[in-house]
Amino acid sequence: MPTFQTATPEETVEAGRALAARLGPGAAVALVGDLGAGKTHFVRGLATGWGADPGEATSPSFALLHEYAAPRGNVHHLDLYRAANANEVWSAVHDELDHGSGLLVIEWADRFPELVPPDAVWVRIRHAGEGRREFSVEP
Ligand SMILES: Nc1ncnc2c1ncn2[C@@H]1O[C@H](COP(=O)(O)OP(=O)(O)OP(=O)(O)O)[C@@H](O)[C@H]1O
Ligand SMILES: [Mg+2]
Repeated sequence: MPTFQTATPEETVEAGRALAARLGPGAAVALVGDLGAGKTHFVRGLATGWGADPGEATSPSFALLHEYAAPRGNVHHLDLYRAANANEVWSAVHDELDHGSGLLVIEWADRFPELVPPDAVWVRIRHAGEGRREFSVEP
């Protein structure tokens, strides 16, 4: 799925589920997109596709990170939007960046790309007209 479009928020959730189905143990997804691009909808799809219930998120002690339980390995959802610098993030969550067989999802990944594992799948979301979003996925 290198490039595709969605026409509704539900389709964006579905696209996240479809990507999750193709990811193996220990996968990482780096998400990039402006405010309102649909990142959170996509993460909801990724998490449910991975077998987690993102509606039952554990309360993170540090707002940078959410963790959703899943049988095949927890989903670690990092949001770099408010993070000041990479060192702060690194010292706060480096244990979670080593996410074992779970899934690591990093929102606003382009803010601190040095934190993104080299094997991550990069997903870029752009506005493409009313209700439409264009996704590019690499590799
Ligand atoms: N095709 C689409 N896919 C996803 N969201 C869409 C789409 N069309 C319209 N929307 C709307 O765009 C918004 C996307 O919200 P969402 O919270 O997922 O974005 P976000 O990238 O996480 O934003 P933020 O950076 O503010 O957290 C929602 O209001 C949603 O209804
Ligand atoms: Mg969001």
